[in-house]
Amino acid sequence: MIDEQRQWHRLMAMARSGAIPGDGVNRACLTELDRQARRLLIGWAREIGAAVSIDAAGNLWLRRDGTDPRAAPALTGSHMDTQPNGGRFDGIYGVIAGLEALTALHHAGTPLRRPVEVVAWTNEEGGRFAPGCMGSMAWSGFKQIDAFADVVDPDGVRFADALAAQLAAEADLPHRPLGSRPHAYVEAHIEQGPRLEAEGLDIGVVTGIQGSRWFTVTITGETAHAGTTPLALRRDAVQDMVRAINALNTLMHDPRDVLRFTVGRISVEPNTSNSVADKASFTIDFRHPDKDVLLARGDAIAGVVQAAVRDGGVTVRETFHALPVAFSPLVIDAVERAAEAQGCRHMRLPSGAFHDAQFVVPVCPAGMIFVPCRKGISHNPAEYAEPAQLAAGTRVLTRTLIDLANG
Ligand code: GLV
Ligand code: MN
Ligand code: MN
Repeated sequence: MIDEQRQWHRLMAMARSGAIPGDGVNRACLTELDRQARRLLIGWAREIGAAVSIDAAGNLWLRRDGTDPRAAPALTGSHMDTQPNGGRFDGIYGVIAGLEALTALHHAGTPLRRPVEVVAWTNEEGGRFAPGCMGSMAWSGFKQIDAFADVVDPDGVRFADALAAQLAAEADLPHRPLGSRPHAYVEAHIEQGPRLEAEGLDIGVVTGIQGSRWFTVTITGETAHAGTTPLALRRDAVQDMVRAINALNTLMHDPRDVLRFTVGRISVEPNTSNSVADKASFTIDFRHPDKDVLLARGDAIAGVVQAAVRDGGVTVRETFHALPVAFSPLVIDAVERAAEAQGCRHMRLPSGAFHDAQFVVPVCPAGMIFVPCRKGISHNPAEYAEPAQLAAGTRVLTRTLIDLANG
C-alpha cells in the first residue's frame, strides 16, 4: 500500500521550497515558501479527493470520511515549517507520512468506521515567531490565538499580520472552527536523537515528552566609546550578559546530563566593534523530564540573572511553559501492535524534542512514532533519514490509523 518512492519524491519536492546549501531547508512559517509548500500538499490531497480546510490559526486539515458520519476522527499530522538552518525531514515527514497513509487508504478503498484527518500545524518551530507550537496550542485551547498577535519576527513583522496574510492567500479554502475532539492522535517524526540508529531499530514507540520553558533576558546598559571610556565607568550590557550566562550555567549544572540548557539567540545593540553595548538580549531554552526540576530551576532563573547582572538593568520574560506529558496507553499500544505486525524492531522511548503532540494530550489520547535519523542529527542541513526507514514508519502509522479508526 505504502509507496516508498512516492513518499520520498514528495519529501524531496517539499525540500525545494526553501532549499539552502548542504541539503538543508529554511522554510519559516507564514512565508511565501510556506505557502508554496502548502499548495503542493493541497494539490496532492485533492488528487485523492481529500477534503481540505483551514482554521483561524492557519492549521491546514485534510480529511477522508469514514463510514460512520458521527464518529470522531483518527488524527495524524505534524508541521511544515523548519528551523532557519533546518533539514528536510523534521516536521514535514509527519505531514507527508499522513498524506501517504491517506493516499494508500484511498487507492486500496479500505473502508474505515471513523474519518482519518491529517493536520499541518502552524509554527511548530518557533524560529520566526517564538514560541513554537502556536497552531496546536491555539487549537487545543492551551492559549488563545490572539495571545500571539503581537509577537514579532526579527524583521518586526507581527504574528497577527503574517497569519492574516496567510489566511488571505488561502481564502479559497473552507474554514473550520478552531478546536475539535478527535478519537485519538498519532504523529510520525524523525527521532532527532541517536538511540534508534545506535540500537539498530526501525521504530520508536514514544512514551511522552519532556517539559520545556523558554525565556528572553534583556539587559540594558549605556553605550560608550570603546577606545576612551574607562572600564570602571562603563555599563556594558555584553559583560553583564556574560555574567548572567555564567551564573545560569552554574544553576543548570547537572552531573547526570539529563537537563538541557541552551542559549541559542543573542542580540546586541548597537552591534558595532568599537562601541560598548547598551542592550544585550538572549534566549533560554530549558528542558527537563521531571516536572519538579523544571519548575524549581525554571523559577530560579530570574533571581539568578538579577543577582549576576552588575551594572545594567534587566528583565526576564517567560515565553513558553510546557510541562512534561505522558502519552496514552491506547495510542502507545496501538503503535506497538502495528510495529509488531509490520515486523519492525522497536523500543519505547521518551522525546527530548517538543512536538505538537504534547498539546493534543489534554484533548484526546495521543502518541508518536519515531523513525531513526542518521547520527541523530537534526536542526541541521545534514539531517537525513533513509527512504526505506521513512516508509517503514509510514506503514506503522497507517496500520495504527486503521486500528484507531476502527476502534
Ligand atoms: C522542536 O523543534 C524542539 O525544539 O524541540
Ligand atoms: Mn519537528
Ligand atoms: Mn524542530
